[in-house]
Amino acid sequence: MHKRPSAIRFIALFALAGLVVGLAAGCGGSAAPATSAPSQPSPADGAALLQERCSSCHSLSKATNEAHTQAEWEQIVSTMIGKGAILTDSEKDVLVEYLAANHGK
Ligand code: HEC
Repeated sequence: MHKRPSAIRFIALFALAGLVVGLAAGCGGSAAPATSAPSQPSPADGAALLQERCSSCHSLSKATNEAHTQAEWEQIVSTMIGKGAILTDSEKDVLVEYLAANHGK
């Protein structure tokens, strides 16, 4: 007769404790890494730009066959824009950073 209410209290207490611990862990854990690199362009954007904008005239492997320094990539991407590649200034920056990081020397 008296078993059920006490069991529910027991479970409720556990649920409450779990909630408090979960909230504390959730807040502390997510705040720290999120602030690490706010101004860094996402590598996924660079990869997407490379695929979308650099594969229409020649293969992607032609574009990334050789490693170049960031300054060289800047030159190459500018040359490709001169040939007709479509990139805004900020897209160009993201792409050059991506190329230098992933196909740099
Ligand atoms: C409007 C057409 C066009 C687009 C878009 C384009 N390219 Fe090119 N690319 C060329 C041509 C033309 C050449 C030289 C002829 C060849 O080798 O096929 C070339 C050659 C290259 C080369 C070889 C180096 C050289 O001087 O031969 C690299 C590296 C390159 N492109 C990178 C890129 C990158 C990175 C992008 C994206 C920003 C890009 N290309 C987009 C037309 C284009």
